[in-house]
Amino acid sequence: MRMVDIIQKKREGQALSTQEISWMIDSYTSGAVPDYQMSAWAMAVYFRGMTTAETADLTMAMVASGQTIDLTTIPGVKVDKHSTGGVGDKVTLILAPLVASFGVPVAKMSGRGLGHTGGTLDKLESIHGFEIEQSEAEFIKQVTEAGLAVIGQSDDLVKADKLLYALRDVTATVDIIPLIASSIMSKKIAAGSDAILLDVTVGSGAFMKNIDDARLLARTMVDLGNAVGRKTIAVITDMSQPLGATIGNRLEIAESLAVLKGEGSSELQYFIAELAQLMLGLADVDKSLDEILTHLSNGAALDKFKAMVTAQGGDMAELLASPVHKTQFSKVVRSQKSGFVTSFDALSAGLLAMRAGAGRAVKSDLLDMDAGIKIFKKIGDAVQEDEPLFEIFYNKPDFDVDKESQDLLDKISISDEKIKIKEILEII
Ligand code: URA
Repeated sequence: MRMVDIIQKKREGQALSTQEISWMIDSYTSGAVPDYQMSAWAMAVYFRGMTTAETADLTMAMVASGQTIDLTTIPGVKVDKHSTGGVGDKVTLILAPLVASFGVPVAKMSGRGLGHTGGTLDKLESIHGFEIEQSEAEFIKQVTEAGLAVIGQSDDLVKADKLLYALRDVTATVDIIPLIASSIMSKKIAAGSDAILLDVTVGSGAFMKNIDDARLLARTMVDLGNAVGRKTIAVITDMSQPLGATIGNRLEIAESLAVLKGEGSSELQYFIAELAQLMLGLADVDKSLDEILTHLSNGAALDKFKAMVTAQGGDMAELLASPVHKTQFSKVVRSQKSGFVTSFDALSAGLLAMRAGAGRAVKSDLLDMDAGIKIFKKIGDAVQEDEPLFEIFYNKPDFDVDKESQDLLDKISISDEKIKIKEILEII
């Protein structure tokens, strides 16, 4: 086979065969197909799309490009979840221990943040001593003994995706639904869980900016998972405003801890309880929302969180004693008028937190674990003129906080009309 013929076939809008896709991924992973040919193919996919069969073939060829994890020695139905990313997205930190507190093993590999989106691994690493790297044997041992583990993805898992994703990132070929679906699902399938909950975010702070694209991505991934025997469901969730009341690594850990203690906003508690109900359902464990919320108020979910942090070397005593550290500087930004908040742009908020030091503009940027934003008013809340809208925390002496926060302030709308947004928009 020749890569040039495969590119041409795709360019002309024809479907590739299983053999062609498998050959292409094998050859790209081994280095026989160079980046420039692979990027030409990705761009052809942008214009021509892929059939359902091609997307499934691509996903399985990617799975086969690296190591696969065998979790069958762990008793019970192992569940995993994945979010397509967002701003203030601390769901895994609360949901994983909550689900594990019902005896359902959670085996999760997470990622890092880039740009305006945060990453669970970065948040966990803000806990002193927390280790995200584990061998397969250690991962299996921890899930068996503690009931959950959240670790980084090993370099050997889905090798083709590592190469292809880095290439897509610099060739304007990230936002292509079959490529996103196969990238995400190949990693989930290789990671070995029996069932997967997908959180497909939609809105300014998400990859998917409109509900139609979110639906198509969710449907494609659910079909891919179910086709290979992994029970998969997707929720489409709102990311037009940040999730919860904090953005930033340590700030989000502190907010998650509060929810795990039955404190924090009731909206966030309820939203995560709904996700937990779906995830438990995937393992055939039927629980009411009240029963699930009880595990947030009675310490059961918190105990699982502590077990995970301790098993992964994190200093739980230090975290409980001082969940947030003071930054050198902070600034409260106030409302210029009275009314109801009708928008609080997630993208602008995420970018502001990133510039303050909480995120990375490029992969090599170092994080300030204490930097970030606390949000006091969200969509639907009443606000008086001069009341605080948000507070920004930073350590950079040259950070021009007034100038930097103006874009977010401009994108917070206040009007006379009270609107309410639901967190879960659809279940697929
Ligand atoms: N996240 C992934 O893992 N892959 C994509 O292609 C997009 C988002």
